[in-house]
Amino acid sequence: MATITSARDPENGASGVPVSELDCLAGNPSLITIDRLHAGYDRMQILHDFSLRLPRGKALCLVGPNGAGKSTVLNAIYGFARIFTGTIDVDGYDVTKLPPSAKLKTARTAYVLQTDSVFPDMTVEENLFMGGYLLDRQSDAKKAAEQVLERYPALKARRRERARVLSGGERRLLEISRALIMDPDVLLIDEPSIGLEPRAIDMIFDTLRELRDTRGKTLILVEQNARKGLEFADMGYVLVAGRLVKAGHGKELLADPDMGRLFLGG
Ligand SMILES: Nc1ncnc2c1ncn2[C@@H]1O[C@H](COP(=O)(O)OP(=O)(O)O)[C@@H](O)[C@H]1O
Ligand SMILES: [Mg+2]
Repeated sequence: MATITSARDPENGASGVPVSELDCLAGNPSLITIDRLHAGYDRMQILHDFSLRLPRGKALCLVGPNGAGKSTVLNAIYGFARIFTGTIDVDGYDVTKLPPSAKLKTARTAYVLQTDSVFPDMTVEENLFMGGYLLDRQSDAKKAAEQVLERYPALKARRRERARVLSGGERRLLEISRALIMDPDVLLIDEPSIGLEPRAIDMIFDTLRELRDTRGKTLILVEQNARKGLEFADMGYVLVAGRLVKAGHGKELLADPDMGRLFLGG
């Protein structure tokens, strides 16, 4: 069964992949549903008629050329982009107009940005406490940080050191674990592998795999390393110029000759 679907006629602005095919690809009822989203910044529209279906406990990887609008999808979900029309629903809540500050508490969604967001002069554990700024009591943030440290011995061993001494991979791990302090259901992760050496990339993907497979987290990631991202993800969406042009299971996209030519270097 061919489950890879492609844009019928992107030149004419026709909607890329039919929503019925996104439903079919998702299989189960979705936790995250985006319908006919038109979004961008100020007056500039970046995403055109973008829809998405992602069930709980699955990982979706967004791939595509630079500037295609991959980060804008994450920004739109989290509330950092302007939404012109369309809707975003997480776990039955319409979150289309929710500000970022409400996303964690209401939609249980956390965002790990592409840019390095570690506070270098704070210790590892102080960085983790920052992830609990929405908690009412500081003691709750400390308790949550302890639980996170128990899961990641590499961070625990260096909990009182300044974050600046961490390796690239450990910093990325710290950013991900800081996002876990509020125990989100959904993690949005922009370019987790960027700037890391191969071993650190594997460690980060192992971490994401455990979050999905053992802890049931639902992940949307953006990856410039399309091969790594699609090998890991249950499904992949290909964006070109703000439109969804292809959607399929991760491994099927990897085997798709168009993908090889466009993004996978052969
Ligand atoms: N905060 C912003 N304000 C205005 N334009 C932006 C902003 N962020 C991204 N853009 C523009 O939106 C387009 C898509 O960017 P982005 O979503 O970051 O692409 P990708 O992540 O696929 O590389 C680009 O043309 C970029 O210049
Ligand atoms: Mg980006």
